Amino acid sequence: MSRQILVTSALPYANGPIHLGHLVEYIQTDIFVRFQRLRGHRAVYVCADDTHGTAIMIRAQKEGIPPERLIADMAVAHQRDFAAFGISFDHYGSTNSAASRAACDGIWAALVAANMVVERSVERLYDPVQKTFLADRFVVGECPRCGTKDQYGDSCEACGSTYAATELKNPRSVHSGAAPVTKPSRQLFVRLESLQPFLTEWTRSSGALQEEVANYLAGHFLNKPLQDWDVSRPAPYFGFEIPGHPGQFWYVWFDAPIGYIGSTAEWCQRHGESLDAWWRNPKCEIVHFLGKDITYFHTLFWPALLRVGGYQLPRRVQIHGFLRVAGEKMSKSRGTFVTAERYLQHLEPGWLRYYYASKLSPRIDDLDFVPDEFVGKVNSDLVGRVVNLASRSARFVEAAGLAPAYPDDGGLFARAASLGDTIAAAYEGCDYREAMRLCMTLADAANEYVEGKAPWTLKKDPSRAAELRDVCTVVLNLFHQIAIYLAPVLPDLATKAGRLLGSAMDRWQLAQQPLVGTPVATFEHMMARVDEAAVAAMFVAEAAVPAAVAADATGTAAPSTDGGEALVKEPLAGTITIDDFQKVDLRIARIVRAEAIPEAKKLLRLQLSLGGTATRTVFAGIKSAYEPEQLVGRLVVMVANLAPRKMKFGVSEGMVIAAGTDGEVFLLSPDAGARPGQRLH
Ligand code: 2FM
Ligand code: ZN
Repeated sequence: MSRQILVTSALPYANGPIHLGHLVEYIQTDIFVRFQRLRGHRAVYVCADDTHGTAIMIRAQKEGIPPERLIADMAVAHQRDFAAFGISFDHYGSTNSAASRAACDGIWAALVAANMVVERSVERLYDPVQKTFLADRFVVGECPRCGTKDQYGDSCEACGSTYAATELKNPRSVHSGAAPVTKPSRQLFVRLESLQPFLTEWTRSSGALQEEVANYLAGHFLNKPLQDWDVSRPAPYFGFEIPGHPGQFWYVWFDAPIGYIGSTAEWCQRHGESLDAWWRNPKCEIVHFLGKDITYFHTLFWPALLRVGGYQLPRRVQIHGFLRVAGEKMSKSRGTFVTAERYLQHLEPGWLRYYYASKLSPRIDDLDFVPDEFVGKVNSDLVGRVVNLASRSARFVEAAGLAPAYPDDGGLFARAASLGDTIAAAYEGCDYREAMRLCMTLADAANEYVEGKAPWTLKKDPSRAAELRDVCTVVLNLFHQIAIYLAPVLPDLATKAGRLLGSAMDRWQLAQQPLVGTPVATFEHMMARVDEAAVAAMFVAEAAVPAAVAADATGTAAPSTDGGEALVKEPLAGTITIDDFQKVDLRIARIVRAEAIPEAKKLLRLQLSLGGTATRTVFAGIKSAYEPEQLVGRLVVMVANLAPRKMKFGVSEGMVIAAGTDGEVFLLSPDAGARPGQRLH
């Protein structure tokens, strides 16, 4: 019976590019979706960019662009990368959409009606200079656990611990550099406690969760009262303002999962479908794929929101581990933080799909990208064992086509056909590693047959033409079966196999019946071997990339680093590296106020705007050359990440760039069109 399945992958943040770590999940999900479609089920795959929150707001501010522009650009880049890897979304939306907003409003109204929203006062950090509450990412200070400097108010990049912003040691505001004070703020909370019995039951008995996940939740969260969930953030915040609470915004993790519904709603609208048939229909199986770091949001908060909103709960939450590279965390400095774009400059997408599939199990273990293993698996499994079947037989029957009746093959075809259900069960259970292993056992049996029959020898003897045709008919049929079983992982290979053998390759069942009496097209190249040097070149550390190509990491240029030659390992004496230079954050700023300091001979006090609400006070030694009033409105260049310096007349939060000698001063200004906040590069 045909099933109705709605599948999602976690929504990627719109503040950075897609990388190899993300692709573990999108490839894992896409294989599942393609498999279901091949089995004749109705599988719809939706996703969206996760666009709200402070990280995105800060990045947009740093780039001097509105957040809407940043997320629009990111949406294009993300979808381009996903398409290149064959990720077959039915719809790709954005959490910053009218459909998502409507779904948030609906769930919020249900929470309010269920009396689950409470407002209370909490102590939050407040910037006394800017007169604003500080979101976690607008406070920096020393990690309360390990003491590392310059950490944000929510988590430490050095030791990975999470904490409240009020716990930071020596905190300061990112806006003004001032030490924040604590002040009571009205915040909105969702009370989850009343749902404890429901969540305990659902996590244990619905069968939706992997056992290790259910155990983790039982041992860490459901064994004590559930804490209220703080779902509001004060302005400034890029997100949706909460109805009836001006100046308060839903925290990004409130509207992110609701984006699954918003994206489905857009798909429904485009296809004349009803949203309720997908989200309020017990027959529809909702399947979420996600990484282990966001387990908690998807297995406690999200089911709670769905339950209160009257939506269907997920039938399955499939959680995977992280990607590591050669046993280590991905790292920019080691060159193992590889973006999708960078991968594609060096390697084929199908190779990664197969490599990941060959390692993915239903468990939450991390997946290790081991370069030698990657090369070995692609070259020996795919090229050596699978594609070779076709390349060693197809050309001998190009003229005659397949034999009119399926020859005796000693039971090979029947065995492969009967393995179809076992391979399908492995895909269904997300045990792709097992599915790939089974496919390779079939390829081994087929290769043994080819070796034994040696069609290249038969070809030399015209009297054995019929035998040659029979042998090639067997080999091509075995290849056809394997290509169908691999089609969820390698759709391009399936397409090429289909062109060669005139097969639609669109149904799992096609592996049950041999092809006979049909033409064989001219053999086309199916898959190249991986060159080890190309893998090594992809992993070149960013710091080692010469200046002319360093821009690829920021997406402003896409030059090739093939071969990785001309690597600059050590800076030359008296020079600095591109990395040293990039530490200096040069920004366009607008002078919004300028005043002379009567007691100081050389100094003017400038207030500089970096776009948005961010301003800085800077003391500049330019009094001899400029009248304060002629400076107001002028664009200048400032060093924005200079540590604040305490001076006699106040704290200076940066430096404006000027040239000149012997008392001459020339402020540097950009060409017309530059905007405050833009970074110089
Ligand atoms: O962790 C992340 O990358 C989040 N952007 C995932 C959100 S998934 C869903 F809830 F939207
Ligand atoms: Zn720390």
